[in-house]
Amino acid sequence: MANTVKLHDLEFMPYLTESELSVIVSGLANRINEKYNGKSPLFVVVLNGAFMFASDLMKEVTIDCEVSFLRVSSYRGTASTGEVKEMMPIGTDVSGRDVVLLEDIVDTGKTMGEIKRKMLENNASSVSICTLLYKPDAFQGDYMVDLIGKEIPDRFVVGYGLDYDGLGRNLPSLYQIKPKS
Ligand code: IMP
Ligand code: MG
Repeated sequence: MANTVKLHDLEFMPYLTESELSVIVSGLANRINEKYNGKSPLFVVVLNGAFMFASDLMKEVTIDCEVSFLRVSSYRGTASTGEVKEMMPIGTDVSGRDVVLLEDIVDTGKTMGEIKRKMLENNASSVSICTLLYKPDAFQGDYMVDLIGKEIPDRFVVGYGLDYDGLGRNLPSLYQIKPKS
């Protein structure tokens, strides 16, 4: 893996390699294949951050399924604004569907809470949340995160789809913010 990367004003150090990420993603795919065996879930990819994770995950999902996309935004820099903006609504009817939300990272949990609530309001039969990363120390939600790839400390990460003010999404592995020395 490459060394430290600099994005805007911040430095990041290697955190999870491509092969470590791939093991985590395969584990999630296996759990989904078991849990939804015989069903035909609707995966909703939460853009932008989840694009790379979702693309790798879906290649290992072997059950019948559909994939749709939704774009939201709540971050500025390295902190959540607490307000979830819907930038691109989902174009698929969720009523009567088993929805699986695919998210890159659950931090405060506000984004997933809002989206889950909207899906249930639109009569989805079930809504589960599948996230690559989860920060338990930052989570403030009152709901369950069903499928978690890896729990991580409350430190900002980039790469593998995740960005810092627009940069870093194209890095194939994950980097963690470097403590200021
Ligand atoms: P939440 O609403 O606070 O759970 O924030 C969720 C969204 O914030 C995620 O979908 C990410 O897009 C973004 N986010 C949270 N933590 C990080 C991080 O460490 N790096 C990059 N983006 C993050
Ligand atoms: Mg996201």
